[in-house]
Amino acid sequence: MKPKILISGNLLEEPIALACRGAEVDLHAGEEPLSKAELMARLKNKDGLVCQITDLIDDEVLGAAPGLRVVANVAVGYNNIDVPAARRRGIVVTNTPDVLTDTTADFTWALLMATARRVVEADRYVRAGKWRKWEFMRLLGGDVHGKTLGVIGFGRIGRAVARRALGFGMRVVYHDTVRVDAAVERELRAAFTDKATLLREADFVTLHCLLTPETRHLIDAAALRSMKKTAYLINAARGPVVDEAALVQALTEGWIAGAGLDVHEHEPEVHPGLLALDKAVLAPHIASASEATRLKMASLAVNNCLAVLEGKPPLTPVTE
Ligand code: DGY
Repeated sequence: MKPKILISGNLLEEPIALACRGAEVDLHAGEEPLSKAELMARLKNKDGLVCQITDLIDDEVLGAAPGLRVVANVAVGYNNIDVPAARRRGIVVTNTPDVLTDTTADFTWALLMATARRVVEADRYVRAGKWRKWEFMRLLGGDVHGKTLGVIGFGRIGRAVARRALGFGMRVVYHDTVRVDAAVERELRAAFTDKATLLREADFVTLHCLLTPETRHLIDAAALRSMKKTAYLINAARGPVVDEAALVQALTEGWIAGAGLDVHEHEPEVHPGLLALDKAVLAPHIASASEATRLKMASLAVNNCLAVLEGKPPLTPVTE
């Protein structure tokens, strides 16, 4: 008898077909994520779950699925899952590292460039029919080349973002809980520094850390006040790493020059203060959203799920 899995949100065709070859699949293809009650009801008789960051997999949800052996998140971040609770119940948790690193780093740069050079504002200006003549003083932005990039969270994605800075002749400083090998620092020409120095010196502060109790509101009012007035904040990590109310105040009062945000503190709600500000470039959490990468993420999650159900080690377990 095939194991039973729940796929809690729509994926591309190929990974769904892959799942169907190895398991009896219950697919939730609706537009809205399953409510907690629906999720618990549909998980009751399941052996595996392929879920997304919009599914909150807490101890109560896990408790509703006595036969559950694996939770495979279609994301590298897994703050939506209570990993210790899963471990206590003997449930394996997996994520999708590596496959989205470069795509996410590319998008971080898209945000950074768009924010510094006011690309979205320029597009709105042209579309609104306001462009009557070339103007020397119109839409002046900040330079990127030759500036200092401060990377907070120097894992795979942070390092991939830093690698791209080499092409812009930037100085790179980074901060993380652990320092990377000297060889990596040399290759990326990146210097380890404390958070306070990074915030003080960087022209661009880009966030790539996991969301944990320690990183929640890592960028708060004090952090924003310590940045250069000409600096930009880029967040493609998790929304709650930034205190959004403080960020709105920082942008409104000119403590910093701008912000590029792919993620939001209470997404999908976006702070109304940010919506009103041209200095903020806003995206709906799409940094990993290229077709090829989303295919790889979903395939990896399905393969993780099937591996555990076949009694094999998962390809990319969460090991925290
Ligand atoms: C992740 O993988 O954690 C992203 O935020 C969703 O693609």
